[in-house]
Amino acid sequence: MKRFPTLTVSNHPLIRHKLTYIREKTTPKKVFKELVDEVATLLAYEITRSLPLRAVQVDTPLQKTTCHVIDSGNVVLVPLLRAGLGLVDGVLNLIPNCAVCHIGLYRDHDTHDPVTYYFKPMPQASDKFFIMVDPMLATGGSAIESANLLKENGAENIRFMCLVAAPEGVEAFAAAHPDVEIYAAALDEGLNDDAYILPGLGDAGDRLFGTR
Ligand code: PRP
Ligand code: URA
Repeated sequence: MKRFPTLTVSNHPLIRHKLTYIREKTTPKKVFKELVDEVATLLAYEITRSLPLRAVQVDTPLQKTTCHVIDSGNVVLVPLLRAGLGLVDGVLNLIPNCAVCHIGLYRDHDTHDPVTYYFKPMPQASDKFFIMVDPMLATGGSAIESANLLKENGAENIRFMCLVAAPEGVEAFAAAHPDVEIYAAALDEGLNDDAYILPGLGDAGDRLFGTR
């Protein structure tokens, strides 16, 4: 019996290698972003494994045949601002035509509760395959609130991608959204008193945007 049934942690050597340098505090901002892009692309490969396919007819140079394509217009990437923006390019590398729907929220410094400041609902949400992206799943508050917003908008099919997850966040998110699978590059030890992930990678937004 898996401890966290909704969590998939990739143990691919490429992801583990790149995450090592993402964690390292001396990694320069430019390299940090490039590595985050690359890990996002690798995780996107995993998270899209169950995407529905549509049959299309193709003329090869030799004959007609039936092939399959993704309806990328039905895929919606949902970065949780701000740090989630850092994972967008890596996913767009694989699915350039997907829609991007932003959710703006930040953690209150004292309570650690999410404060939402932006959400523009998607039309026909029930037909879409949503991929929420945020580097960090700490207490789970931001991801839970984001999935709440998507579901209130009609979303029925949601996945969540992060780089580093804390057990506390995985547990809270799974309790609130047992239907939403989480794909992470690593499951870490836990949270410190400020609800930062240990060992983690620090403040993802600050490292991505140079604001520390
Ligand atoms: C970080 C991170 C997540 C959130 C995770 O964002 O990017 O959104 O914290 O913490 P939680 O699981 O406890 O909610 P932050 O609030 O620092 O905002 P930012 O992305 O604008 O830097
Ligand atoms: N947000 C971050 O950016 N890092 C953490 O460790 C926790 C929340």
